[in-house]
Amino acid sequence: MTVQEAIKARHSIRAYKEQPLEEAVAKVLIDKIAELNQEGKLHMQLIQNEPKAFQGKLAKYGSFRNVTSYIVMAGAKADDLDERIGYYGEQLVLLAQMLGLNTCWVGLSYSKVPGTYVLEESEVIKAYISIGYGDSQGRAHKIKTVEQVSNASDSTPSWFRKGVEAALLAPTAVNQQKFFFEYLPATDDKPARVLAKRNFSIIGFTQMDLGIVKCHFEIGAGKDNFVWA
Ligand SMILES: Cc1cc2nc3c(=O)[nH]c(=O)nc-3n(C[C@H](O)[C@H](O)[C@H](O)COP(=O)(O)O)c2cc1C
Repeated sequence: MTVQEAIKARHSIRAYKEQPLEEAVAKVLIDKIAELNQEGKLHMQLIQNEPKAFQGKLAKYGSFRNVTSYIVMAGAKADDLDERIGYYGEQLVLLAQMLGLNTCWVGLSYSKVPGTYVLEESEVIKAYISIGYGDSQGRAHKIKTVEQVSNASDSTPSWFRKGVEAALLAPTAVNQQKFFFEYLPATDDKPARVLAKRNFSIIGFTQMDLGIVKCHFEIGAGKDNFVWA
């Protein structure tokens, strides 16, 4: 499965088979987590065979079942922490999909179980990502139109539309899709740029969502075609 195929195949899965992660699969994830932690200055951690984080009332309310592996999304406090959590976490979500696993971003309905994760001073947990072999492959979420979330038109390049389409398939908190991509044409001294913005949401999580959709946008549009404004 290519990463583009993973974007299309991915849906949030909350009910899993009673099956631990295969050792070789877990190893690929652990190595990637180490690499991305370095690149994104984060402290993401894969926790395996630990059922308690998703056994509380909150998790049941959110219909989670048989979650025994998850990624703790942590990092040192910073203004852009949420966006980096989203951007790098989504790379893990797509890798997991390519490895035959399923996932769900979880902003609220988890319990932090002491002794399962490590936090340095000044580090905080921002979300969890449940991970495992799904009971099903899920289904597509309702999506906004390209025109609702961008200034794509007949005069913007095709890669821009492809980026927006990939972003529309990304997970966002309660599927809010409160983002907007603006194409800024190249000038004499600057290449084509894309401005990614977030709209207000009473739910929150828009900065994390923005990191997630920027990850998808880059894959859909091709990183070489533009720079972020
Ligand atoms: C930052 C973030 C937080 C989320 N928090 C939760 C959560 O607490 N509980 C839950 O069941 N789903 C949660 N989700 C999953 C979204 O509801 C889901 O991504 C959205 O409805 C779109 O569906 P899809 O992922 O299947 O495309 C979260 C997603 C994101 C991106």
